[in-house]
Amino acid sequence: MNSQRPTAPPPLGRTPHHIGIIMDGNGRWAQARSLPRFAGHQAGVDNIRRILESCVEFGVKVLTIYAFSTENWHRPPDEVSGLMRLLGLTIQRQLNELHKNGVRILHSGRMDGISHHLQEQIRHALDVTRYNDRITLNVAFNYGGRAEILDAVRRIIADGIDPEALSEELFSQYLYTSALPDPDLIIRTGGEWRLSNFLIWQAAYAEYYATPTYWPDFDEKELYNALAEYDRRERRFGRVPSPS
Ligand code: FPP
Repeated sequence: MNSQRPTAPPPLGRTPHHIGIIMDGNGRWAQARSLPRFAGHQAGVDNIRRILESCVEFGVKVLTIYAFSTENWHRPPDEVSGLMRLLGLTIQRQLNELHKNGVRILHSGRMDGISHHLQEQIRHALDVTRYNDRITLNVAFNYGGRAEILDAVRRIIADGIDPEALSEELFSQYLYTSALPDPDLIIRTGGEWRLSNFLIWQAAYAEYYATPTYWPDFDEKELYNALAEYDRRERRFGRVPSPS
């Protein structure tokens, strides 16, 4: 018998309520295995399910994933159409199970540019899962932070809001994420240190965590490490450090 039992990691103190993930490194993951880039995106989708369950176990209530940015339209056309197809297929194959598991799905992003059929599939997924409350999966798809801010400003002007009445709280109500609290932690996989136009308003005071691990390999242990690092940070929101 192996007497060296693995020791359980120490319990986490403070868990973030809302995590945002920039799921980078799918292409390099595939390349490292001599697979086409698309195989990396497929492995990336499989990993979303795994990390979503881990989030539930750790007590995270909202997970926002950056699945397709407004800048991703500049990728080769077959990669763009592949990512569109992948979202449709994922909804088709996984919606029932996500619903059964109490996942509420939200979408952040523009609908323009997305095919009519995929728009219908997205609306259907939001509608079916709208009363679920085990965890919220917010899919940032055709999302850009600057586009989101512009869209908000356009709607504020169209609503005739008095400039003096505009506050940060009111502005937030015009963002795609109006139903959600700001993210507490932003994780980026794949080794880069950039926000890449992701939740640029909402993440103003989020903690940031980057790991070289490619997204398909980012597992529960990696998530634990990110949460443990978050737990060690002191969030000050512009105030002075609290006396120790
Ligand atoms: C970046 O990897 C990843 C994306 C373009 C977005 C993430 C997409 C998925 C996980 C799959 C699609 C998800 C849904 C729900 C349809 P990269 O291609 O930039 O990797 P690289 O930096 O190694 O090239």
